[in-house]
Amino acid sequence: MNKISPSVMCIDMLDLENQLTALDQAGIDLYHIDIMDGHYVPNYALSTYTMQDIARVSKTPMDVHLMVTNPEQYIEAFAKAGAAIITPHLETLVHPIRVLKQIRSLGKKAGIAVNPATDIAPLAYMTDFLDLVCVMTVDPGFAGQTLIPSTIRKITDIRKMFEAAGKPIDIMVDGQVKEETAPTLVAAGANVLVLGSSGLFKYKPEEYRRVVEHYKNL
Ligand code: DX5
Ligand code: ZN
Repeated sequence: MNKISPSVMCIDMLDLENQLTALDQAGIDLYHIDIMDGHYVPNYALSTYTMQDIARVSKTPMDVHLMVTNPEQYIEAFAKAGAAIITPHLETLVHPIRVLKQIRSLGKKAGIAVNPATDIAPLAYMTDFLDLVCVMTVDPGFAGQTLIPSTIRKITDIRKMFEAAGKPIDIMVDGQVKEETAPTLVAAGANVLVLGSSGLFKYKPEEYRRVVEHYKNL
């Protein structure tokens, strides 16, 4: 069964508490928290304050997608703010294994995100230190973009890489995951689906349970 992680940056913030209640009742597995520094990506999104507000009304774990340079400076802050999974970008890490160890030392799951044009080869040296790989199917920074097809085979390659290493891995896909694309992404090996503007928030809250069940059972 796939895991569902709604992209909180796509939620109507004027209706946040109602949305979180509806999503929790719909049976989601995670909340996807996009953190942007206006430097690694030309945009801003959420913060530790958003996470603290979410934690006041929901027990659902949060996966934090760090689209920031020097992410090692912020691991502790996001762990303290309630992250269950912390996912920096491979492209921003000079010493990836050291950062993955730091995340796990704080009792959190360690993830790495890779951009569409980034090769996955270095991940082969990190299979002992990773719980999740986030495959960006769009260049990071904005919702509502267009899925880049060449990213799909990366999902399969990552699945094969970790199988060869005899290590379990969650493979998250982030960007334009929707009815039209999710079946192909799951068939390629993805099992954690980030649902944003195109996949989930075009529906009304009363439809969330049906939609989440659909994606879970792909
Ligand atoms: C983009 C973010 C995604 C985004 C996905 O950088 O990482 O989580 O919100 O939104 P959609 O699915 O609408 O592209
Ligand atoms: Zn994201």
